[in-house]
Amino acid sequence: MKNTDTIEGIRSILKPLRTSDIAFVPTMGYLHEGHVALIEEARRRGDTVVVSIFVNPLQFGPDEDLESYPRDLEQDLEICRQAGVDVVFHPSEEEMYPEPPELQLGLKSMASILDGIRRPGHFEGVVTVVNKLFNIIRPDFAVFGEKDRQQLMIIKRMVQDFNHEVEVIGVPTEREHDGLAKSSRNVNLSESERTEAPEIHLALVKAEESIKHGKVDAEAIKEDIRTHIESKTSAHVDDLQIYTHPGLDAVQNIEGDAIIFIAVKFERTRLIDNMLVMK
Ligand code: PAJ
Repeated sequence: MKNTDTIEGIRSILKPLRTSDIAFVPTMGYLHEGHVALIEEARRRGDTVVVSIFVNPLQFGPDEDLESYPRDLEQDLEICRQAGVDVVFHPSEEEMYPEPPELQLGLKSMASILDGIRRPGHFEGVVTVVNKLFNIIRPDFAVFGEKDRQQLMIIKRMVQDFNHEVEVIGVPTEREHDGLAKSSRNVNLSESERTEAPEIHLALVKAEESIKHGKVDAEAIKEDIRTHIESKTSAHVDDLQIYTHPGLDAVQNIEGDAIIFIAVKFERTRLIDNMLVMK
């Protein structure tokens, strides 16, 4: 496995490999089995698997967890080695942003819901860095997790709007045994918060069941989820929305496929999850 922290380095490593397919997994590191599931999908798609590790400051708000975001490059390189990655690109902030970017990508309606509102500037930061990474790596396939479903949908749209020659692939959410979605941020939960956190997924599973049993009122379903989580954990529900799938329109009565999106805030840690309910 090769690794490099420069743009020139990754370009020269990839140059002779461009005759076959390159599959790319962008990450912010502190890798876990969710990332490994993406790497495995990348191995199925491409001949060369590239992983990037870069905690992108542009996508963190001023009051967010950029400083406390967990980092461990040596451990990440070992996980990549074991997972059969060919090349790891782990640039510094100076390498990616030698000066503050003059141009940044913006979004319209796709960032006017959910984390687009709760985290102003977040998705602008995500599309800007992923656009740069796509230009540097020039992958044939790029793999993203359904855990960050709004991000996945936005990246697919960016590829369409900007004609990137890449196929974007979504991978289902990898969970702990108790249902908690794997996340680099889970290490920032206290012991008791970690015990409570599976209630997020449990509440969504219960909601899915009640929708499948004929409950259609989105407000009532949201109330059930909120009550479940706020009675069984110390967290509060920061955001909870139900949208049509794949249109992402607000829904009052759930008549077709729908996605439940949730963001839950523990003392220091904000977790997101979602559930696609197929009717
Ligand atoms: P990061 O949070 O490190 O996630 C990298 C990729 O792993 C994303 O596509 C995310 O959806 C996926 N992922 C995270 N947890 C997962 C899980 N439990 N199951 C399946 N996939 C999971 O998302 C980012 O980084 C950044 O925004 C990035 C795209 C790298 C741009 O900076």
